Amino acid sequence: MFFERPESGEVSILVHLSIESDKEREDPIEFEELALSAGAQPVEFITGTRKQPSPNYFVGSGKLEEIAAAVRAHKAQLVLFNHALTPSQERNLEKVFECRVLDRTGLILDIFAQRARSHEGKLQVELAQLQHLSSRLKRGWTHLDRQKGGIGLRGAGETQLELDQRMIGQRIKAINKSLSKVRSQREQGRRSRNRAEIQTISLVGYTNAGKSTLFNALTNSDSYAADQLFATLDSTLRRIELPNFGTAIVADTVGFISHLPHQLVEAFRATLEETAAADLLLHVIDCAHESHADYIEEVNTVLEEIGAASVPQLKVFNKIDLLDGFEPRIDYGENGVPKRVWVSAQQGIGIDLLLQAMSEALAGTLVAETIRIAPEQTRLRSKLYEKGFIEAERIDESGFYHLGVRLPKQELERVMQQGAVIEQTPELVESSDPVWTEGEQARTA
Ligand code: GTP
Repeated sequence: MFFERPESGEVSILVHLSIESDKEREDPIEFEELALSAGAQPVEFITGTRKQPSPNYFVGSGKLEEIAAAVRAHKAQLVLFNHALTPSQERNLEKVFECRVLDRTGLILDIFAQRARSHEGKLQVELAQLQHLSSRLKRGWTHLDRQKGGIGLRGAGETQLELDQRMIGQRIKAINKSLSKVRSQREQGRRSRNRAEIQTISLVGYTNAGKSTLFNALTNSDSYAADQLFATLDSTLRRIELPNFGTAIVADTVGFISHLPHQLVEAFRATLEETAAADLLLHVIDCAHESHADYIEEVNTVLEEIGAASVPQLKVFNKIDLLDGFEPRIDYGENGVPKRVWVSAQQGIGIDLLLQAMSEALAGTLVAETIRIAPEQTRLRSKLYEKGFIEAERIDESGFYHLGVRLPKQELERVMQQGAVIEQTPELVESSDPVWTEGEQARTA
């Protein structure tokens, strides 16, 4: 098919220029990591500087020749640019190099295509890929085939182009239809969980930080729930039982990459918006990676973009097994709420501490009150017990219950609508403000 991913192991030339006019400078080391994780086999890394990109080829004529020579010398199949190229630049470059050219957006889309875990995620990436591709199909898609020549390929130009465009259009329509179905199912699931006051914890983090490994360490595969409430969960949502807290949902999300291409942010908007609706974010960090402090900031920038900056955040410094002398531990903020947890998801070290910290962090979003309910409200009382909201109880001589409760705010409002009365000036034990978002360094922590 014409929109298949490149096969892995393609011999590739990497190109990275420092563009003086470019505010969002890309990182050449990260670029190499991205190329490797896409399955490319980089054989030469060509770098350079330019005031601004040239309109036709992005690079200047000297660099163009240097890359072309490298392609010939290595018989490269692919040239990867660490920049966003216009469709016409990409096409012009392919003509000169006589091999495929992929820009940063295309590369990242490819990585996301390989890693998307949920059905919805896969559809979202395919949609973004097709949109990226269709903008590249406008004129002269067939130049590569023409160069290859061959009987039956010559002269097919325009007809093939029209055919391709129509097929892409149809596929985009079909994906959009499936996506809206998946989304409405998910929306339904979310509403039922909200009704049942089940807290959601979203895993976020830079790509490769270890989110999925941690997701699996936190939840057991047998925790897939069969009851109605969880029936619509996909593979990226799982139920978890937290010590002294109760049931919560853990959601795995897409990995973040610096300067995430616009198409992807758009494609994942629905999923990312769900992150913004979470009660707690577990920000997973590969603390053994030299750029982890930058990555923390990158992730926080994306969180801001999707309106999730104010969701309480617990940082999980993962991969401590790769650092010398790091023991698992919880660091607390001045307000007594957990701030960071040091673990190794792969080795299963510190997972119990993390579960404890998650409970404590979620409990920090609850309110504590003493309420009074009438003697006949035994059903309300047993409901509160069932949900684990009651911490203390006293019955007075008239039979009224005085209950020390700790529960989500909305739940308290509901209880009051049912006739409960708050007994004293409320002392809210609240910490839903983003107190954990300062950019600390792992090693100085
Ligand atoms: P994306 O899918 O790109 O978002 O990645 P991710 O954040 O889900 O990371 P994943 O769980 O796929 O882990 C990335 C790599 O790190 C894998 O090779 C894991 O085996 C490895 N890894 C995860 N946790 C640990 C850890 O605690 N220690 C070590 N040494 N490696 C780990």
